[in-house]
Amino acid sequence: MATPAPLLQIRNLQAEVTTDPPRQILKGINLTVRPGEVHAIMGPNGSGKSTLASVLSGGSSFRPTSGSVEFCGQSLLELKPEERAHLGLFIGFQYPPAIPGVANEYFLRTSVNAMRLARGQPIMDAAEFGKTLEKKMGELNLSERFMTRGVNEGFSGGEKKRNEILQMALLEPRVAILDEIDSGLDIDALKVVADGVNMLRQTHPEMGLVLITHWQRLLSYIVPTHIHVLAEGRIVHSGGPELAHKLEESGYDPLVRSTPAPGTPVPTEPTGTGMLPPPTPATLAQGPVASAPRE
Ligand SMILES: Nc1ncnc2c1ncn2[C@@H]1O[C@H](COP(=O)(O)OP(=O)(O)O)[C@@H](O)[C@H]1O
Ligand SMILES: [Mg+2]
Repeated sequence: MATPAPLLQIRNLQAEVTTDPPRQILKGINLTVRPGEVHAIMGPNGSGKSTLASVLSGGSSFRPTSGSVEFCGQSLLELKPEERAHLGLFIGFQYPPAIPGVANEYFLRTSVNAMRLARGQPIMDAAEFGKTLEKKMGELNLSERFMTRGVNEGFSGGEKKRNEILQMALLEPRVAILDEIDSGLDIDALKVVADGVNMLRQTHPEMGLVLITHWQRLLSYIVPTHIHVLAEGRIVHSGGPELAHKLEESGYDPLVRSTPAPGTPVPTEPTGTGMLPPPTPATLAQGPVASAPRE
């Protein structure tokens, strides 16, 4: 069977933070995400993981200086942030901003309808949207009071993360990039968030997923097909799901210390070490296949 065309293809992406003077953060990122793949990006603090998410979203704190990003056949870096979203790119931020005074339900409906309009679908009225919302909220254990409050206003860390997943589930993206969706979550909240993501994968098996995370724990619940280690603005190592356990044992240090010079091909794990095929509804229903999560 022919390999499906990539949804997202990042080639030699370099970017700087727009401080005065600017400083280069991303030093040549290459990443290809195909339908159904789950890529985990791990790496030490400050290595550029959130910067990558921000550059892909079109945020103004960073400026791409070189390289290209193709998303569903379009040149992503030339698009406005909302055009990227309408094309089907979703970014769940590490620190989702609060929008006081804008009720969460109104915000969600407006986002969904903007997306539907861009896709040539009819917009949803409040009643119709309410029904869809209620169902998804139940799945994510979110109570109704989150809908009338301002977006993320006074939400706990865990509530903000569940709200990000709710947005994602409503927007049904082609590619979702989730930045530290597990940070600050206790084990029960982590399971709810992971279940929400897995449910969406089950109904949308073509969706590409990029999970930015520090912890192997999340990857026990959402099993990646590929794992990459990002250090000092470069992907220094790539492998299959088993790489998470190796990193858990030995940390990032051995890989970071052997950081290749720019332009050197990225080392990958030998083939046949467990690169998983894209999930099918049956494999997803089996749930976690990796080791039990650790507290
Ligand atoms: N707004 C900013 N202003 C200045 N430096 C920044 C800003 N945002 C990020 N950085 C710097 O960029 C580097 C990468 O940060 P980040 O992408 O947040 O790392 P990670 O998500 O991997 O922990 C760090 O050195 C950080 O200090
Ligand atoms: Mg970060």
